[in-house]
Amino acid sequence: MTVLITAGPTREGIDPVRYLTNRSSGKMGYAIADVAAAKECRVILISGPTDTGLEVPDGVDFIPVESAADMYDAVERWIGKADVAIFAAAVADYRPAEFAEQKMKKVGEELTLKLVRNADILGSARGKFLFEGTLVGFAAETENVVENARGKLLKKGCDMVVANDVSRKDIGFDSNENEVILVFRDDEEKVAKADKHRIAHSVVEVALGMEQDRQRSEEGN
Ligand code: CTP
Repeated sequence: MTVLITAGPTREGIDPVRYLTNRSSGKMGYAIADVAAAKECRVILISGPTDTGLEVPDGVDFIPVESAADMYDAVERWIGKADVAIFAAAVADYRPAEFAEQKMKKVGEELTLKLVRNADILGSARGKFLFEGTLVGFAAETENVVENARGKLLKKGCDMVVANDVSRKDIGFDSNENEVILVFRDDEEKVAKADKHRIAHSVVEVALGMEQDRQRSEEGN
């Protein structure tokens, strides 16, 4: 099995020395890559810049990227090789409308930065990249966690969405621990609070199982 994983934050350049980013540590995506590699999968890890000293797991094909646009291009290029695709990256929804080639000088008391929408990479997997394997997304929610995550699952053509309650301070972003709900089309399954490696185990195990079932039923047809 080949597993493609996106991880980490993206950096959206403003000028040569400034960028917009977010607090994603990349830990969840790297843990998923580690677990999948340990299960003898070929792993393609496409990651934004992480600055938490994370090491690329052994035996993983690592593709570093910076911006959401770079990540889009890398996924478009590699997803055709994958049986399972897991999108754990915290992709910036917007980027500066223009990149200033020279460092911006301060002028005046206010500065308005115009942002434009980035393409939805996960949302492009089915319609644009024509990916037919098992597709897994993540959803960060603060309320109606299962309902909102299922909405994303249906909209983006996912088989599973790993839903996080980001209103909780003790889990998520910077933390080593997480508590997630695996949301499927018709039901859901809570994974008890655990370190990100154990959560990664559950996510990978379920995703590989779904892909095996899918491949078997495809062979049967
Ligand atoms: N994603 C992506 N490309 C984007 C934005 C998001 O691939 N440009 C992926 C993320 O990797 C994640 C999922 O889509 O798997 C998150 O979906 P999103 O709609 O961004 O949900 P939230 O991050 O929860 O944000 P919001 O509810 O504000 O839309």
